[in-house]
Amino acid sequence: MMGGDPLLSGFEDPEEFGFETRAIRAGQPHDARTGGVVTPIAMATTFAQDAPGSPKNGYEYSRTGNPTRHAYEACVASLEGAQFGFAFASGLSAEDAIFRQLPHGSQILLGNDAYGGTFRLIDSVHGKKSGLANAAVDLTKPSEIEEAWTPDTKMVWLETPTNPLLSIFDIRKISEMVHQLGGLVVVDNTFATPYLQQPLALGADLVVHSATKYIGGHSDLVGGFVATNHESFAEDLVYIQNAVGAVPSPFDCYLALRGLKTLPVRMDRHCENAQRIVEVLSSHPAVEQVLYPGLKEHPGHEIAASQMRNYGGMVSFRVAGGQPAAERLVTSTKVFTLAESLGAVESLIEHPGVMTHLSVAGSALEVPDDLVRISVGIESINDLESDLIHALDQVA
Ligand SMILES: Cc1ncc(COP(=O)(O)O)c(C=O)c1O
Repeated sequence: MMGGDPLLSGFEDPEEFGFETRAIRAGQPHDARTGGVVTPIAMATTFAQDAPGSPKNGYEYSRTGNPTRHAYEACVASLEGAQFGFAFASGLSAEDAIFRQLPHGSQILLGNDAYGGTFRLIDSVHGKKSGLANAAVDLTKPSEIEEAWTPDTKMVWLETPTNPLLSIFDIRKISEMVHQLGGLVVVDNTFATPYLQQPLALGADLVVHSATKYIGGHSDLVGGFVATNHESFAEDLVYIQNAVGAVPSPFDCYLALRGLKTLPVRMDRHCENAQRIVEVLSSHPAVEQVLYPGLKEHPGHEIAASQMRNYGGMVSFRVAGGQPAAERLVTSTKVFTLAESLGAVESLIEHPGVMTHLSVAGSALEVPDDLVRISVGIESINDLESDLIHALDQVA
């Protein structure tokens, strides 16, 4: 979605409305024909034209542009404080659209903790096939950026909080430094969502999402998103979105729009439940260390407090007894489901070392083998607590 198209705007001036209102209404005018308050799922793949090359309402072919997708793009762009927003078929295809912009032989600096699939895409796909070099940097020490910077470095890529170690990086400080060096900063905002953190306002150039997670929120769609205020980067993204064609279906766009309407209330409950789960974990003898940015002793706590509204629904912890105990634990819960992914209404538990982060084994991003990651859902907190305590007791 390129900015300024009046068709796409649910309000005259969306920015004057609060976040919760925009989550429900931005980009979603009432249906012009029926007055319906829900954006229709526009299944048409092609649109009638008045004359060759002259579409009636701006739409010609659904890969290039689709009304349901545009409503969704306008909504997320508004929530991220962005002029431009683009939906993709997955988080990884959204990331891929960004890496394709980098000239051959570029280098990218990557935070030393990130989703395994992001590392695989940079290192194995773009690294080996398109000459994109990468280096992992401890972004909690921004001076490492300066040391690692080369004339070919174009971009710093970071998650905050990171997946799965929940490290926190200072978006303001990193953006300032990278801009002085002449590069761009990309923030993967999947864990925080725009409700908890808005990276563009903190200085980042691009925001990326796996919309599969909190944006969808119900484990029933795979999607990705890029938002930016850089017009020239937006022009390149809209070109790649159409030319490569990794676009989400209209039905997935509808599901994402539906998910967004409850994002603020879901996130409030995710945060509230996560806080209680952190208290359980912190006092259980089977747990060696709890990783959660809301903990005062977490190394990134103060930065998180300064750039996030709350600390999120993701919690990781290290289990006494190493990998065997961690594997026993993740197969001992009943309410927490052993599964990959995160960010939905139901609680999930996983062992990153052999599941989501297997592809970083042997790299600078390798994760500890006693690590367990949980995505705290919005079920009854009493059920979540007793389920987890029962499983922890099995391995204590
Ligand atoms: C932080 C983060 N970014 C990106 C991705 C990739 O998104 P997708 O699975 O939608 O391609 C994931 C997937 O787990 C993720 O956790």
